[in-house]
Amino acid sequence: MTATTATAPTMRGGGRNELPPHLDDNLLTPRFYTTEFDKAAKTDLDIARKDFEAMFKEMEADYNLKHFDRKASLERLSELSPEDKAIYESYLVRSVVSEFSGFLLFKEISNRFKKAGRQELGQFFTFLARDEARHAGFLGRALKAEGINVDLPNLGNKRAATFFPLSWVLYSLYLSEKIGYWRYILINRHLNDNPERVCAPLFDFFEPWCQDENRHGDCINLMMRCWPGMTKGFRGKLLSRFFLWSVFLTHTLTVCERGDFYGLLGIDPVLFDEEVIIQTNNTSRNAFPWVYNFDDGKFLEMRVQILKAFRHWRESSGLAKPVALSKFVSLILRQFALPMQKTNAVRYG
Ligand SMILES: [Fe+2]
Ligand SMILES: [Fe+2]
Repeated sequence: MTATTATAPTMRGGGRNELPPHLDDNLLTPRFYTTEFDKAAKTDLDIARKDFEAMFKEMEADYNLKHFDRKASLERLSELSPEDKAIYESYLVRSVVSEFSGFLLFKEISNRFKKAGRQELGQFFTFLARDEARHAGFLGRALKAEGINVDLPNLGNKRAATFFPLSWVLYSLYLSEKIGYWRYILINRHLNDNPERVCAPLFDFFEPWCQDENRHGDCINLMMRCWPGMTKGFRGKLLSRFFLWSVFLTHTLTVCERGDFYGLLGIDPVLFDEEVIIQTNNTSRNAFPWVYNFDDGKFLEMRVQILKAFRHWRESSGLAKPVALSKFVSLILRQFALPMQKTNAVRYG
């Protein structure tokens, strides 16, 4: 599905049982998560005490306290065609849901830590929740200016939360923060080089915004270090492989689905997806025991075949549909099994 075929922007807001405009309920839509909170409350912080204190101070400094200007002008949007406006709105809705789901999870982790008497860890996650609430709030204001009200608190109640064990949550959170960082910074760099493509004031805020996501990734890395078993042996390799593969695959399919958004900014979605994957894989060397080895080019090359097979599956019907699906599944499994390389990520214990 492309952004242009998403629900038309004429549908504003929504009742309790509706998803917001531009947000169809499919596999690529952001989800809400829950985890083993009691286990998380047993995190042994002493393993990484010095690094934790440094990271705590950095989060406490709140560098972006005044960054997200509530009175930012929205003038440039008036130059967009109705079609381009719909593409932009679709991007805003998906982004606000994903920022808000981060807020809910961090807030819940923070509350559980505090209830378990782990005040400093509770405060640490309050900092992360603070940033995500700020990001969601800023996107929410941009949507409001478009006449779209997303009822975020109720959206969290409407959608069933997906349960993930703690190790899965930490691996996937690390990746979603770092991939978020690379997405924002690459868009920002592109728009700095092509200022005529800055069609909305939102993009003026991307640089410090992406530094928030980068710091969040470092906070999650610290949590991972407090659980050395998560990154050891076969388990560490399997978790690294699975989450890198699934996050990259979802990114490739999502970017292809939202190709129109990248077109609006003058970005080639396939090249953008490739660069985001290369950089995120490289950054993950700091946290994961294994990352994909892109030296032979196969992982990146296969994305083109995967995209083709995905589109073919979506468009086919009748007997051709299961055949197209099995081709798609066999391709993504082959990509999953491609070579990896060991990293020198700092680990304790
Ligand atoms: Fe965020
Ligand atoms: Fe974040």
